[in-house]
Amino acid sequence: MKTLTIIKPDDWHLHLREGLVLKNIIQYTSEYYGRAVIMPNTKSPITSIDSAITYKKSIAEALPESSKFEPLMTMYLSDETDKGELINGFKNNVFFAAKLYPANATTNSSHGVKKIENLYEIFESMQDSGMPLLIHGEVTDSEVDIFDREEVFIDRELSAIARRFPKLKIVLEHITTSYAVDFVQENNIGATITPHHLHINRNAMFFGGLNSDFYCLPVAKRESNRLALRKAATSGKECFFLGTDSAPHLIKWKAFCGCAGIFNSPVALESYLTVFEEENALDNFEKFASLNGPKFYNMPPNREKLKLVSRLNKVAEFIDVIEDKNIVGQIKPFHAGETLKWQVEGIVN
Ligand code: DOR
Ligand code: ZN
Repeated sequence: MKTLTIIKPDDWHLHLREGLVLKNIIQYTSEYYGRAVIMPNTKSPITSIDSAITYKKSIAEALPESSKFEPLMTMYLSDETDKGELINGFKNNVFFAAKLYPANATTNSSHGVKKIENLYEIFESMQDSGMPLLIHGEVTDSEVDIFDREEVFIDRELSAIARRFPKLKIVLEHITTSYAVDFVQENNIGATITPHHLHINRNAMFFGGLNSDFYCLPVAKRESNRLALRKAATSGKECFFLGTDSAPHLIKWKAFCGCAGIFNSPVALESYLTVFEEENALDNFEKFASLNGPKFYNMPPNREKLKLVSRLNKVAEFIDVIEDKNIVGQIKPFHAGETLKWQVEGIVN
């Protein structure tokens, strides 16, 4: 049996939701990851220091008692963002970073930014204080084909931001195209890559009828892009790091409205490992999962280690959402019903 022991990983892009869903899913991250960057697109978005503190407290309350997991909070940028609040929150360790959602680009982003140029003054202060800017990189212009929205965002918005703020710490989140892979490397910024974008291409959404299980934003693109992402993730290059974008939606909502988001946290490490093994790059897995992210953010890697073993691992069809011992909902995990070849064994000293 093959085994792999790596420094405990971090998830640099995670949706934890709130309330019951938060309580039911947090264990999938808190058990095996040291830290996670928590996305602020909750129903009422995290746009203030107070709301971030309240949200962080609810996360702490949902954690198992002895957990050392550290949630890293982000502020949701909007047209009304108060620069003082943002920078104060960063300087006082409330906010780890700011998240830019172009208005209506994805789930709960209706309060996002309508005109990005109006935030340039804020970007200037972020650059000065070293606050990272995390970007959902898609234009929302309905005239732009949905499969082109990342590339057009890079051309219309990101290249100008990167040029104008060369010292701003920018992360282009959940990249989906070879165009983004190239841009990230040429412009000295960082990028997260999800497990699902390494496994599926756009055909997955249309296989056996319209299938919202594989609908996420940015949408998966054509095969050549998936191959470029696999090459980037497994390259060991410092600019690419683990960010699952695990985004749970109850099955009933997914079926009803086809919400965007794939819940991968129960299998994310195994899912990534499958790719690294297929690409003959198991040696680079620790860099991607545990070293490149901390290095980008100037943080120490975690101290503990995580052991992974190569053994058959049947993924559940559903993850139950439980309230007072009753099942009140279900969420479908990525790879539901499949048998993966890797399994997390646990933390080792
Ligand atoms: O697919 C996605 N789901 N992409 C996002 O950017 C947001 C996320 C969510 O919150 O559901
Ligand atoms: Zn996300």
